Amino acid sequence: YNLILFIFLKYFTQTLDHFNFNSMGNGTFSQRYLITDKHWKKGYGPIFFYTGNEGDIWEFALNSGFITELAAQHRALVIFAEHRYYGRSLPFGKDSFNIPQISLLTVEQALADYSVMITELKQQLAATDCPVIVFGGSYGGMLSVYMRLKYPNIVAGALAASAPILSTAGLVDSRQFFHDVTADFESIAPECRKAVRGAFHLLKELAEFQDYDRIQSEFALCKSPSSAQDIHQLNGLLRNAFTVMAMLDYPYSTHFMGSMPANPVKVACDTMMSGSNLLVNLRNTAGIVYNATGVLTCFDLYSLYLECADPTGCGLGFNSMAWDYQACTEINLCYESNNVTDMFPPMPFTERDRELHCSQRWAVVPRPDWLKTQFWGDGISSASNIIFSNGDLDPWANGGVRKSFSSSLIAINISGGAHHLDLRSSNDADPVSVINARKREADIISQWIKMDRTRLQQLP
Ligand SMILES: *[C@@H]1O[C@H](CO)[C@@H](O)[C@H](O)[C@H]1NC(C)=O
Ligand SMILES: *[C@@H]1O[C@H](CO)[C@@H](O)[C@H](O)[C@H]1NC(C)=O
Ligand SMILES: *[C@@H]1O[C@H](CO)[C@@H](O)[C@H](O)[C@H]1NC(C)=O
Ligand SMILES: *[C@@H]1O[C@H](CO)[C@@H](O)[C@H](O)[C@H]1NC(C)=O
Repeated sequence: YNLILFIFLKYFTQTLDHFNFNSMGNGTFSQRYLITDKHWKKGYGPIFFYTGNEGDIWEFALNSGFITELAAQHRALVIFAEHRYYGRSLPFGKDSFNIPQISLLTVEQALADYSVMITELKQQLAATDCPVIVFGGSYGGMLSVYMRLKYPNIVAGALAASAPILSTAGLVDSRQFFHDVTADFESIAPECRKAVRGAFHLLKELAEFQDYDRIQSEFALCKSPSSAQDIHQLNGLLRNAFTVMAMLDYPYSTHFMGSMPANPVKVACDTMMSGSNLLVNLRNTAGIVYNATGVLTCFDLYSLYLECADPTGCGLGFNSMAWDYQACTEINLCYESNNVTDMFPPMPFTERDRELHCSQRWAVVPRPDWLKTQFWGDGISSASNIIFSNGDLDPWANGGVRKSFSSSLIAINISGGAHHLDLRSSNDADPVSVINARKREADIISQWIKMDRTRLQQLP
């Protein structure tokens, strides 16, 4: 069926500042959410709540079909909540990205939003006895984990797909991410890695000779580069294409963060190894990401890719500003490429680089240890009811929890899986690993629902 026909778009009157009673008084903003009761057994069935992450909530709803499939089995109510400062949930409209209005963009505020929303909607919908399970992918998965850690009174369990809670807390080697991106391409063929590395080497040589005309023509750039900064930007744009394809290496074509062919990493490697001109191959490979529509006449260096406090990419538009701010404050993404443990040009991004960017852009000093302090770091063994799922193709996987801590803190591996593949709708091209992972997730979630129903019914 066409899910869109059964989803209602609503706005929730949300408290602006959950943690200060003076600064914003009782000020509120409109927070968008999507809701469908198509499958819900009213007042009884559980609530499946997606903790929205850094983008338009429709994007996540339309790419997380597993949640509604599972809702059909469990007769659940489904809610996708949009994260403050993203999509249409801008607390101060177009002024949201000014200083100091941006300052209410924190992980803590977002979690409090979700908790308040769940509590009030349960009242409104006469659903106070309905267990709540949270779902999220990527940063949304981190939020699901944190919801269970911080609000176990509200949330019975969390399915955190591809949630890099360790690397974003500064607990993983800074080379891990681009190493793992590289590994995906290398696993198609060692020659693929070689070709990519070779192409970046040629680009470096042309840049050293300041042969900017040749660089412009080989890469079909709209404007000729004219400085080391332009070359740095070009390298960033190119590296980002590989990052996106590694993350979205699904076995069928998708429309999530742009359009991707099926198995984009394979397509990229075929392209990289297709002719003898490595630079043109590299341009065409970047085109898989930036020229998916096939209508681009040239690559505009500064509009297709934004450099920000997240070396894995911030996206474009308003959402990119919000994410840059988050990467400048709580979320630590100091990942580097170095041309030794990965195939990319050396592009360090140190804590010092981050401070410089963030103080200039947002007048903030990042707090590299805060996330670790606030959300338990790697000492989460006393938590419960969390599934950490990760696909081995996903460069974020090794930034997350790969080993089960206990029978209720469970790590699931999805071999041949990219970024939160398990949250997507079932597809004929799914590897058997993700079919099994979803079955296991469904079983565990059933148990949580049963346990929590008993608890809720015993409450006075
Ligand atoms: C906020 O508080 C003020 C002063 O108490 C009151 O007049 C106003 O109606 C309140 N606004 C909302 C949205 O509750
Ligand atoms: C974009 O794709 C089209 C169709 O394949 C191609 O003709 C065009 O040259 C590409 N643009 C760039 C900048 O590579
Ligand atoms: C990567 O390292 C090799 C030496 O191992 C060097 O020849 C090449 O130019 C480097 N590539 C880049 C882009 O720096
Ligand atoms: C998942 O895979 C990783 C990396 O291969 C491994 O270290 C880990 O033990 C595996 N975890 C589970 C639960 O099988």
